[in-house]
Amino acid sequence: MGNLKISALLLFAMATLHCGISESMDYIEGNCNEVIKLPCKATDRTTTYRYAMWYKMKDIPIIKRKKREYTNYTNSTSFFLGENETLEVHNVQPSDSGEYKCYLAADVGSQNYYSFIKLNVSASECLDVSTVYPSTTNPVYCPVVEELTVHWAVIGLSLFSMAKIILCIVAVGQARTIAKNGRWSDNN
Ligand SMILES: *[C@@H]1O[C@H](CO)[C@@H](O)[C@H](O)[C@H]1NC(C)=O
Ligand SMILES: *[C@@H]1O[C@H](CO)[C@@H](O)[C@H](O)[C@H]1NC(C)=O
Ligand SMILES: *[C@@H]1O[C@H](CO)[C@@H](O)[C@H](O)[C@H]1NC(C)=O
Ligand SMILES: *[C@@H]1O[C@H](CO)[C@@H](O)[C@H](O)[C@H]1NC(C)=O
Repeated sequence: MGNLKISALLLFAMATLHCGISESMDYIEGNCNEVIKLPCKATDRTTTYRYAMWYKMKDIPIIKRKKREYTNYTNSTSFFLGENETLEVHNVQPSDSGEYKCYLAADVGSQNYYSFIKLNVSASECLDVSTVYPSTTNPVYCPVVEELTVHWAVIGLSLFSMAKIILCIVAVGQARTIAKNGRWSDNN
């Protein structure tokens, strides 16, 4: 019992500690296949810089903007730079989860600024989406719908028939009761 309490306390302490850490880093939760916008918080601290650059996991370059000139460091078509150096990740996947860094390279003699942001795309939701809506396999999806419709049509028809039968029985029963009552009132 005592051991259990201690481990619960430890877990709580770890959770609080973990929350404290993640609080210092911005954290974005994404759903599979969405467009995620990762803001570059460093732009809050400086508006004058030579270029802006986004990295994944601190040092893997993704995209760079120097005035109107963009440089893509990956062949991925899912990264775009939006307003205020916001990194847009299109069609986001669980593999896009991780830490991202926005780096603002200063003019000579000034300070460089950077900010971090963490993205988490849940894999389980991704699976749900692909099983409910297969994106490329329409021929698989359509028969399923048809089967479902036929299935429900059969159930609907059966229910309708049953309702009719029940109505019939009830009506006959009532007619009999009325007839009986009639006879009884005749006797009285
Ligand atoms: C991107 O594509 C080019 C040619 O299409 C190829 O040479 C290069 O290695 C690719 N880079 C990456 C990071 O996949
Ligand atoms: C880099 O990506 C941008 C979209 O963010 C695109 O407009 C541009 O054509 C790409 N540049 C190169 C060199 O592939
Ligand atoms: C970009 O930054 C400017 C100045 O801080 C602000 O007025 C504007 O609303 C921002 N744009 C977006 C899309 O957040
Ligand atoms: C990402 O989110 C899932 C569920 O939403 C959670 O179980 C997982 O621990 C998160 N991962 C990280 C690295 O925060």
